Amino acid sequence: MLYALQTVPGLGMLAWREAEQALSDGAGAHPPRLAGIRAVPGRDDIVLIDYQGGPKPLLGLRTVEDVFVVAARAFRVAADERGLRQIYAAVRSSENAGPALNAWRRASGARKGGGAFRVIARTVGRQQYLRRDVGRAVADAVRDGWPGPWRLVDEGEDLEIWATLVDQELLCALRLSDASMRQRGKLRHLPASLRPALAAAMVALTRPAPDDVFLDPMAGAGTLLVERAAVGPFAELHGGDINDEAVSAMRANLRGVGGRVVTSRWDARRLPLEDRSVDKVAVNLPFGKQIGDQAELPELYRDVLAEIARVLRPGGRLVALVEDAQLLEQARSGAARSLRPGPRHRVFVLGQPAVICEYTRVDGGR
Ligand SMILES: C[S@@+](CC[C@H](N)C(=O)[O-])C[C@H]1O[C@@H](n2cnc3c(N)ncnc32)[C@H](O)[C@@H]1O
Repeated sequence: MLYALQTVPGLGMLAWREAEQALSDGAGAHPPRLAGIRAVPGRDDIVLIDYQGGPKPLLGLRTVEDVFVVAARAFRVAADERGLRQIYAAVRSSENAGPALNAWRRASGARKGGGAFRVIARTVGRQQYLRRDVGRAVADAVRDGWPGPWRLVDEGEDLEIWATLVDQELLCALRLSDASMRQRGKLRHLPASLRPALAAAMVALTRPAPDDVFLDPMAGAGTLLVERAAVGPFAELHGGDINDEAVSAMRANLRGVGGRVVTSRWDARRLPLEDRSVDKVAVNLPFGKQIGDQAELPELYRDVLAEIARVLRPGGRLVALVEDAQLLEQARSGAARSLRPGPRHRVFVLGQPAVICEYTRVDGGR
């Protein structure tokens, strides 16, 4: 079975790592295989995974926003009118449609037979036809060829079919997840809040361990803290923000989290924490667009990094999301040289390019 995992642009490889780990336990002779990563620029990464088991473990992944099972594919789809005929033929006669519908029925509890369906079509590339033409070709093929009967609707659907044409390749996939996977229940959001899947990827990069003292010094609504709590045991969670509204959203979002959780209104430039008392830090620094003044960022970054370097123990990890990695590097080399830079990961946040930067605290120095 081919599954498609949809995530934040730039997170494809990190989502695959999480999936591989989750699926490998108990996979026996059939470990999952990465079949490719496709980018819908600025919108999504799509991770294709060949896996013989059911979708249940995929629906629990934290770095993923939606899970699909692939029902049809087409390659070398023409950019002119012939492309629509190719799409129709590939979807109508796909031998994967039956098994994919069965997987969807098992996941959704739907009964055998057809129902109401909706098509979400997306195109990337220079086709001479429109997105809605692709949607129509797919809908016609489903009605004409899939075991049904199937009725096309604009809303109130039983089944969502996502047809994504990336240049010459069509992926036609059935959605197995619902909105709760993307939104994680009823989290309170602020305008600068992270998408939970992105927060989960940052938390994974801190390399969570059960004895972690974990800190987000500029925690906003606490998305990173919620994700840290979700991945497993910790010793202490510390989160704070300078803004009252953020602190109250953070407290509301962390209400259900058990264990030692400390939330505070504070200035991240002067943290009320001992030197070398923290194991892991994840932080989404203000970009200076929605939050803060761009001109103040160099000084703010310097002061906050120096404070993070002070509270991290040697060997501790910092994972920081910023828009301008150069600015962060200037701040580090000026005020926090004990943070040794590691890999960087390019992502998109609210349509803007951004970078996740990894650091390890080395012994000695600032
Ligand atoms: C990009 S937002 C963080 C969003 C958060 N990760 C979330 O998902 O909700 C940056 C946060 O930094 C906070 N902030 C700005 N300057 C601060 C300072 N000196 N000390 C503490 N927090 C600060 C802002 O109030 C804002 O909530």
